Amino acid sequence: MKKSLILTLAVMIMTACAAKEPKVLITYFSPTGTTKSLAQELGTVTGADLFEIEGAQPYTTDDVNLGNREARAFKEMADKALRPEVKGKPDKLKSYDVVFIGFPIWGDAAPNIINTFIEQSDLKGKTVIIFSTSGSSNLTNSYNKLKAQYPDLNMVEGTTLKRNPTPEARQNVINTLKEAIPAK
Ligand SMILES: Cc1cc2nc3c(=O)[nH]c(=O)nc-3n(C[C@H](O)[C@H](O)[C@H](O)COP(=O)(O)O)c2cc1C
Repeated sequence: MKKSLILTLAVMIMTACAAKEPKVLITYFSPTGTTKSLAQELGTVTGADLFEIEGAQPYTTDDVNLGNREARAFKEMADKALRPEVKGKPDKLKSYDVVFIGFPIWGDAAPNIINTFIEQSDLKGKTVIIFSTSGSSNLTNSYNKLKAQYPDLNMVEGTTLKRNPTPEARQNVINTLKEAIPAK
């Protein structure tokens, strides 16, 4: 009798604790794979689900060629009104409390496809954590631009992973992003 009471209590406590865990989705755009590998690592340490934001028209190596100012990425950077179509949608977006959005910084801003994704997703009421990878830029300018464009969203500035990070710098980024997840 005593044993079953303790067991029942233990199950109740475990259920209560589990209910406090927010449901987290990590979305990311990553034409050359850097943001993808960071997102996957974050997914492993948080147990979150992943969704890759891909162009309906895939981004080729030529599209993101930094040496060619005529490349697709530069055309999109030059016309902020462009909204490249996104392929697919995350499953059951409604069920998530926290949505990470990760991208490579392009021209000190989020790529336009991030605007497409935000505008076609119902993110109201969720915590939206922004993160990025970059050559050397910090995330703040890119974050502030998004925040100004979508003032109704509960957006949180995460951090960026800069090129050629030390293992410690990479770990710091993972820790910062993990700690940005609010308790439910
Ligand atoms: C078109 C273009 C513009 C970029 N602009 C910036 C920039 O303004 N600041 C910066 O630090 N890095 C810039 N980068 C570098 C990328 O942010 C960086 O390589 C990123 O990690 C690539 O991520 P991915 O592998 O997930 O695509 C740019 C790269 C491209 C292709």
